[in-house]
Amino acid sequence: MTPGCEAESVELIVPIRLNPAFPLETRTNHPSKPRLGRRGAVAAAAAACRGGGRGGEPRASAPAEAAPLEVGFYGGTCPMAEEAVLDEMRLILMEDKTLAPSLLRMHYHDCFVQGCDGSIMLKSRKKKAERDALSNRSMRGYNAIERIKARLETLCPRTVSCADIIAIAARDAVFLSHGPRYDVETGRRDGNVSVAEYAENDLAPPDSNIVDVKTFFSVKSLNSKDIAILFGCHSIGTSHCAPIQKRLYNFTGNMDQDPSLDPAYAAKLKKLCPPPRPGDGDDDDDDDSEGKTTKVPMDPGSGFTFDLSYYRHVLATGGLFQSDGSLLNDPVTRGYVEKVANASSPDEYYHDFAEAMVKMGRTDVLYGDQGEIRPTCGVFVD
Ligand code: HEM
Repeated sequence: MTPGCEAESVELIVPIRLNPAFPLETRTNHPSKPRLGRRGAVAAAAAACRGGGRGGEPRASAPAEAAPLEVGFYGGTCPMAEEAVLDEMRLILMEDKTLAPSLLRMHYHDCFVQGCDGSIMLKSRKKKAERDALSNRSMRGYNAIERIKARLETLCPRTVSCADIIAIAARDAVFLSHGPRYDVETGRRDGNVSVAEYAENDLAPPDSNIVDVKTFFSVKSLNSKDIAILFGCHSIGTSHCAPIQKRLYNFTGNMDQDPSLDPAYAAKLKKLCPPPRPGDGDDDDDDDSEGKTTKVPMDPGSGFTFDLSYYRHVLATGGLFQSDGSLLNDPVTRGYVEKVANASSPDEYYHDFAEAMVKMGRTDVLYGDQGEIRPTCGVFVD
């Protein structure tokens, strides 16, 4: 069967350290496998699972358990690397704490589009790189990654990849938001291809139902439990109004509201995000009456603290996005949401979260003599 087309993928045993003071647990190493070819549109996932993808190339992702990454990869070549990232992250977040969720999100958007290869950082003069995709228009944190990269270049030139910096920054973003600190695997190298269309195709839109979500994630070898765990990233951060306007004002095309959204929560959201007006979206004015610059928390009341309240919020209200609420429409994801929402301690979730992030971080990585280590992350591809 094509990798990524299995209903549920293999579980992993990875080193998890919820608190730096705790000892490491057992580790199972997986054999190295070569990277598969370029991934294609998730919209073509069904076709891919039947054996063909964009341009006839294999389109499903390399199995997440196949990546030959290791904890402490830079121990010999740049021993201060992780400490320097954490230090720089502290400074960055002191200046702007809203960058913590943005940098966590960046790791997801990097990994899902051509694998975790730093390609999200590349730029295009023709506006055709991943950055230029609609799904990345609201992405922030590029300068923060470049700032960390510059510091690492002074410490150990041409050694630490941008993809690894993004992965470590995501880990530290969670940690500095009062979440767990897990051992992040490193050893990724950077790709030099970045195509907006791939980002449009491989990132699920916020109006996805659970079938869509499972399709987008299964082609990255992430199963239903992984989905339920990784969605907990929405415990921190905000959204613009656009991703929820359809849910609030035109759910089925009849000017209606999503019936699965709690009415009281919907009323609050509607106050913040007014209905879109004809002509919205194509004007350059500073008028925010349509909520273009308004941001709403994804986990109200706890938007800067990485905790379990996202799960309680989803269970009680249906969550901010349809995709968040879709977790309630599948027995595995719903069961997980209910379990975490009712947990008396965050430990089990934090353990699961660490495993799932490590697994996502193995998606289609470049390693060994593949790819490159460049002096700056945001170079132009055209
Ligand atoms: C079906 C899957 C997902 C969908 C549809 C989705 C959608 C979105 C949308 C629409 C936003 C708001 C963007 C904006 O308007 O500024 C957002 C923000 C965010 N997402 Fe997701 N997301 C998904 C999965 C994930 C995953 C797996 C992670 C982490 C591993 C993640 C982490 C975040 C974070 C931290 C933010 C806040 C960003 C900020 O405050 O700057 N998301 N997501």
